[in-house]
Amino acid sequence: MESELIKSDFDLTSFNTLALPSRAQYFCKAIDQETLMQALLFAKHRGLAISIVASGSNVVLPEKISGLVINPGMQGIVRKGNRLRVAAGVLWDHLVRESIYTSGLFGLENLSGIPGTVGAAPIQNIGAYGIEVADRFKALSAIDLRTLEQHRFDTDTCQFGYRSSIFKKALTDQFIIIEVELALGSQPVPCLDYVELEQQVGPQKLQDYPRAIRDAVLQLRQQKLPDPRHRPNVGSFFKNPVISVSEYDALVAELGSIPGHSEGDTWKVSAAWLIDQLDFKGHRVGGAQVSNQHALVIENVGGASFSDILTLTREVQTAVQENYRIALEPEPVFFNPSRQI
Ligand code: EPU
Repeated sequence: MESELIKSDFDLTSFNTLALPSRAQYFCKAIDQETLMQALLFAKHRGLAISIVASGSNVVLPEKISGLVINPGMQGIVRKGNRLRVAAGVLWDHLVRESIYTSGLFGLENLSGIPGTVGAAPIQNIGAYGIEVADRFKALSAIDLRTLEQHRFDTDTCQFGYRSSIFKKALTDQFIIIEVELALGSQPVPCLDYVELEQQVGPQKLQDYPRAIRDAVLQLRQQKLPDPRHRPNVGSFFKNPVISVSEYDALVAELGSIPGHSEGDTWKVSAAWLIDQLDFKGHRVGGAQVSNQHALVIENVGGASFSDILTLTREVQTAVQENYRIALEPEPVFFNPSRQI
């Protein structure tokens, strides 16, 4: 079954930044809410499973996905006072640039250069250089995939955590986010908690900070992280683990020191450092490789499959568990291969 709206046996290789070969049984690019509703009804009438793939910058896709894959393509940024209502399909970094240069609103500059769409940002509560999307979040609208009813979620109901929200927990795969509302500032309040960022930015006049921070963050990301256009990847592949003070003290007694910072009665330690200590940089399984540039990144160096990525993930997790007694949690979402056709 193929129509202008719904494509069948659709190639998703260019719809995931790991460039894994993946095909969807059915695929629809939902450019507006009407198209989205038509696609949802198409799936509902045929009893098809629905999966959402936006820019594919935080997913590990299997070779085949049964049911309907929806790509949210809705566009538009509407300003109301210091708030921006942004359609889910807008690219996150486009929004950051527009907020600074067109709207003259501040608060997103530390989140410059993060791949992905606005609709995906709250799902994993994207964060970098001391700011998370939760810090600027007001509300979102999402459609319940079972009832097709629209719901509004505020900050509390989203249950944000470190790279987490209710959409990665109790409500996994149950909603499609269509719009996000952010509350920004008309006056810059620079966040320079990261020493490397502060050094890169240097002293500025207050009004100049947002642009200077954006430029510095873009430069730091470019220096540190492999570019997915040339080395397909999904950014940080593991979350930084949060461990208790006693676990941290025991590891420091063994290892001398571990980069990290204390958060109340826990420590968040650097997963990149742990992986690097175990000499994983450059380690390969098939076409999947721990990046030589940053130990927290897994790259597709050519012909990687879902199972190469999974095997490498497990090797890293096992080694970190055995050597440091720490369970590493992947940051991207692994699509369930049991949904394969
Ligand atoms: N390190 C190594 N080896 C490496 C890379 C880093 O030992 O190959 C050590 C260094 O000691 C460094 C420490 O790891 O000081 C931390 O590295 P980095 O500053 O690059 O930050 P990160 O904790 O690895 C986190 C986010 C990034 C975000 C940066 C900056 C997570 C999982 N990752 O990385 O987010 O850009 O901080 O705020 O929290 C992403 O989520 O995709 C992402 C890139």
